[in-house]
Amino acid sequence: MATTNTDPEIITDKNEMRKWSRAMRSQGKTVGLVPTMGYLHEGHLSLIKESHNRTNLTVVSIYVNPGQFSPSEDLSTYPSDFHGDLLKLKSLPQRVDVVFHPYNLYDYNNNNNNNNKSVVIGNAIRKGENETVSSCVEETEAGHETWVRVERLEKGMCGKSRPVFFRGVATVVAKLFNIVEPDVAVFGKKDYQQLRVIQRMVRDLDFSIEVIGSEIMRDSDGLALSSRNVHLKPEEREKALSISRSLFWAKSAAQKGQINCKELRELVIKEINGAGGRIDYVEVVNQESLEAVDKINSPVVICVAVRFGTVRLIDNMEINV
Ligand code: PAJ
Repeated sequence: MATTNTDPEIITDKNEMRKWSRAMRSQGKTVGLVPTMGYLHEGHLSLIKESHNRTNLTVVSIYVNPGQFSPSEDLSTYPSDFHGDLLKLKSLPQRVDVVFHPYNLYDYNNNNNNNNKSVVIGNAIRKGENETVSSCVEETEAGHETWVRVERLEKGMCGKSRPVFFRGVATVVAKLFNIVEPDVAVFGKKDYQQLRVIQRMVRDLDFSIEVIGSEIMRDSDGLALSSRNVHLKPEEREKALSISRSLFWAKSAAQKGQINCKELRELVIKEINGAGGRIDYVEVVNQESLEAVDKINSPVVICVAVRFGTVRLIDNMEINV
């Protein structure tokens, strides 16, 4: 049962954030970080629970990262409700100690407040050949030029249609790790490729942080929770159930002995196409390497990205047979 909790401390300045974390760690406390872009739902809240189970203190970051959106993507319409987010965090049985809510992590002139009107992010739509290789940070922030790339893992699946996405995610997560200096960081398996990219970055760059992958939270009808679901019209939402439905069917087929990945893919594709979804990809890949497999003889995950209306949804299903 939810109990009323004390308010989390809200920190907007990165130096203050680091100071807080270092002070806590010097007292022997362990710190967990849950990075989010806000508009919190039960999926996010489950990550907080996971952090709470593993550490003494939990920091939730709320920051819509312009670095992971290309100028043609939905940064300007990405939903946000900071006040609502705080209420949700406050009503959790697990205490959230700090909400880290920076205004602009790519501003190096210490203008860390929203009075800096020269920083306009997210409303630029640019067409042309540069579109696919620049992010909203480059659109507006000439100062930032360092990017973390996880070269192989970032290329497939979501990386194909969103070429700057994982570069932006890895970079902002590295920045958050350097600012918050957590012992543990929790990510959702909902964004499976993202989780693997972060784990690889942490290994390759020797971050001393344990990265936890937490299970996907779904609505009772199966739809994976996502901040973007709010943009689905009711009829689109109904049709989008074909994603989770087909993934559960595929899992059950695999458990009954279907190890041919082409068959499993076709089952998923047929169901989603039948519901009118515009498929970006359906892939059966190894859970660690994310390389496509033909036959299931190691743990795999079926990953899906599909558009219903204007909304791009991702989902996946691990199969451990
Ligand atoms: P966001 O989409 O807000 O998601 C924040 C975290 O919540 C991610 O780790 C994501 O995998 C997890 N999450 C989202 N939906 C979930 C669900 N239904 N079940 C379980 N976990 C879920 O992912 C991002 O933000 C950003 O890319 C970020 C990592 C914060 C970097 O900007």
